[in-house]
Amino acid sequence: MNIMTFNTNEELNQIAAGIFASLIQTKPTAVLGLATGSTPIGIYQELIRLNEKGYVDFKDVTSYNLDEYCGLPADHPETYRSFMNAQLFNHVNIDKAKTHVPNGNAADLDAESKFYDEQLAKASIDLQLLGLGHNGHIGFNEPDAELHAGTHVVNLKEETRQANARFFNSIDEVPTQAITMGVGSILKAKMVMLVVRGAEKADIVHRALTGPITTEVPASLLQTHPNVVVLLDKEAAKHF
Ligand code: GLP
Repeated sequence: MNIMTFNTNEELNQIAAGIFASLIQTKPTAVLGLATGSTPIGIYQELIRLNEKGYVDFKDVTSYNLDEYCGLPADHPETYRSFMNAQLFNHVNIDKAKTHVPNGNAADLDAESKFYDEQLAKASIDLQLLGLGHNGHIGFNEPDAELHAGTHVVNLKEETRQANARFFNSIDEVPTQAITMGVGSILKAKMVMLVVRGAEKADIVHRALTGPITTEVPASLLQTHPNVVVLLDKEAAKHF
């Protein structure tokens, strides 16, 4: 596992975006696994800049997002589809038909999960971007006695709803369920990039990467992956 620490968020964003850009330069048809949350925003801004300058071309790129809330109206600004459009897809030359986000409003969410897994199995993700939840979740794979390999519906933990309430008018508006790729699908990516920022995640990222591998810290399963790069700001890196 390659762990890099950065003094500034700008440097972190540039290196992270640079890794995505070199992948796309060497493989224009790259399949990207993308994430939401506040952590990737600066990386997406840097990718937009590189796309505008002509250094990276998204024309033939395919993307799969990790997760989506269940039950939010499709035009709600906090759906992860809206987030991805606003933060990246609307600003680069990606073909929207090649971008995939699970449908959290599907009438049959189990069928949607199966469908998403079938697409993922065919696509094979080259580089999976991950943020980290305060409780160690990746995607929306919450700490539990057991974890699921494939895409599935999860009941969000209260702490996760609280953490994400900052994006909504009140906690009552935060959905109680989400659909997420499973840890099995995440670990199938050829390369994983975990990005963690902020002092409040210093303990959990240290536990996840150096502590025991346990389903109670879903990100600890990344220790089993042969090709993980971790980018930390200096606050998140304080125990390394
Ligand atoms: C959300 C997402 C995760 C994300 C995490 C951290 O719940 N489902 O994919 O990594 O929260 O979010 P943030 O980057 O805003 O701290």
